[in-house]
Amino acid sequence: MAIDLKGRSLLTLKDFTPPEIRAVLDIARRVKRERRAGRLRQRFRGRALALLFEKRSTRTRCAFETAFGEEGGHPVFLSTQDIHLGTKEALEDTARVLGGMFDAIEFRGFKQETVETLARWAGVPVYNGLTDEWHPTQVLADLLTLEEAFGSLRGRRLAYVGDGRNNVAHTLLVGCARMGVHVAIGAPVELAPAAEVTAWAREAAAQSGSSVLVTADPGEAVRGADAVYTDVWVSMGEEEKSAERVRLLQPWQVTAGLMERTGRSDAIFLHCLPAVKGKEVTEEVIEGPRSRVWEQAENRKHTIKALMLATLGIRA
Ligand code: CP
Ligand code: NVA
Repeated sequence: MAIDLKGRSLLTLKDFTPPEIRAVLDIARRVKRERRAGRLRQRFRGRALALLFEKRSTRTRCAFETAFGEEGGHPVFLSTQDIHLGTKEALEDTARVLGGMFDAIEFRGFKQETVETLARWAGVPVYNGLTDEWHPTQVLADLLTLEEAFGSLRGRRLAYVGDGRNNVAHTLLVGCARMGVHVAIGAPVELAPAAEVTAWAREAAAQSGSSVLVTADPGEAVRGADAVYTDVWVSMGEEEKSAERVRLLQPWQVTAGLMERTGRSDAIFLHCLPAVKGKEVTEEVIEGPRSRVWEQAENRKHTIKALMLATLGIRA
């Protein structure tokens, strides 16, 4: 059966089934090839996209803005300095107004509830560009990068080490388990993934034929990994936790030594970026030959373009 994502929002990766994620990745591969070949089309002509940001962004904003704009669409960036977002006007009112003027809405911010309320009331697709809980558009790019590096997803092994309970770790658990990638989260017990997310991922892994490992042993986490992934130790909005995080996570720094412990000479290094070099990863690793972080960042654009094409019902 053909996959039809028209009108759908992406609030967490749980919203999309494995065939739906597969469909977005396939479109992403196609639009990436087209762009590389200089064959840009005007598929977003006559459409408008609202980009709402409560938190800062380089990659997510630029991916949405350039992907939409280069195909003739009109992206409008709106920070909390620019519009009434939950202050002065009820969120559901803002959502309905924006939904009347825009074809789709991206939201990055703090509460998951905000993006859910926008989706409930806007009447157009809403994309979660990162909340405290989830970062689904990131993991679409991560899956594409893994697939490009190894030719397939099913049966691959991804080890995420560091803050195991942040938005990226939780979304990787969901995305990998759904797509048949064995996923290991290596984190100190204080920063282990939420029990309900792990349980959800275990069930998805049972269906896709993969597995989920949560461990407080760095060596066990990365053993046999095709990809070692880390993220900042202190996510946006948690700045007051800096000192505690450095204390807890220092043993989890991704070093050349930890990459060796994969036992794989072809293991790659991934990071959603921005990175704090010398904290969660050494300069040697992120700048070294195993690092795929720049391709991974570029893939944000292709996967986001694919997501927008699919959910706006535009033939790719
Ligand atoms: N990876 C990511 O979401 O980067 P930005 O915070 O720059 O958007
Ligand atoms: N976990 C990080 C991801 C940044 C893209 C944060 O929320 O700040």
